[in-house]
Amino acid sequence: MTVNGGFISVIGAGTMGNGIAHVFAQHGFSVHLIDVSTEQLNKAINSISKNLDRQLSKAVITEEIKITTLSNIKTFSDLAEGVKQSQLVVEAATENTELKLNIFRQADAAAPLNCILATNTSSISITKIAAVTKRPESVIGMHFMNPVPVMKLVEIINGYSTKKDVTDTIIALSKQLDKIPCVVNDLPGFIANRILMPMINEAIYSLYEGVAGVEEIVTIMKLRMVHPMGPLQLADFIGLDVCLSILNVLHQGFGNPKYAACPLLINMVAAGKLGIKSGEGFYAYTAGNKDLVISKRFS
Ligand SMILES: NC(=O)c1ccc[n+]([C@@H]2O[C@H](COP(=O)([O-])OP(=O)(O)OC[C@H]3O[C@@H](n4cnc5c(N)ncnc54)[C@H](O)[C@@H]3O)[C@@H](O)[C@H]2O)c1
Repeated sequence: MTVNGGFISVIGAGTMGNGIAHVFAQHGFSVHLIDVSTEQLNKAINSISKNLDRQLSKAVITEEIKITTLSNIKTFSDLAEGVKQSQLVVEAATENTELKLNIFRQADAAAPLNCILATNTSSISITKIAAVTKRPESVIGMHFMNPVPVMKLVEIINGYSTKKDVTDTIIALSKQLDKIPCVVNDLPGFIANRILMPMINEAIYSLYEGVAGVEEIVTIMKLRMVHPMGPLQLADFIGLDVCLSILNVLHQGFGNPKYAACPLLINMVAAGKLGIKSGEGFYAYTAGNKDLVISKRFS
């Protein structure tokens, strides 16, 4: 089974969807980028163009690759239209179980029978998603990391029914995108987020309980753990709503209170402070300012 020469459909044109579309298009695939919001589709093409400019300025790509990458991407607001000729669908819509189940029902009904249906979910059960389709053996997790054009890892998650040749195809495809695939099994949070999210949650609890401020937490994590960025900045980068959804999946999935989200995280999401994408989280973000500024609330 291969996906050479066919269309790749990416559902969801947010933070991850635009990065996934960028990487496939840059490696010569024809991409159908699908979103319910046309505004989001326009924003995504803008972000891809800016990110290609950054790669161009660093001589990672040539002007010619920039042009072909952009011309390889077509946008759609109708899901059925966008997936009907695809060999692979990568779903990267909002991290919400019901929403993803609905998308998979629609994609299953509209995509060709031999099309692989992959999800970029950070935590939702691949087996549960696969179960709403008529092809559970062709459903798999293809979990890219943010920012997709830069990060090498693809965490591949086998659902209960995923066929070996589907896994092998996704492994080969990840390598074709110049990524490093790593195959794991389907339990809540898989590996990346099962380990990362409790750490982020604990950093938020430390701030909430007044053990230390944002600055002290980042300094200790960078110097002691040699992390390139602190956990609170990483949470802003991922999106605080995404972090909360993943913690909820871990909490419900394992039934263990150790995964319960910190009340401060719950409040920040309720207040619309989602991190970079909303302009404020633990840090404050203003267009054109590259300095890292701690949000007034925590400074
Ligand atoms: N943000 C991260 O760092 C990160 C990293 C790895 C994986 N993920 C996962 O990737 C997925 C997307 O996350 P994101 O951060 O890009 O979210 P996002 O909020 O930036 O984007 C989600 C997009 O999905 C679109 N959408 C919602 N419903 C839709 C539908 N029915 N059909 C088509 N499009 C729809 C929204 O309009 C939006 O553009 C989630 O499953 C998330 O867990 C996120």
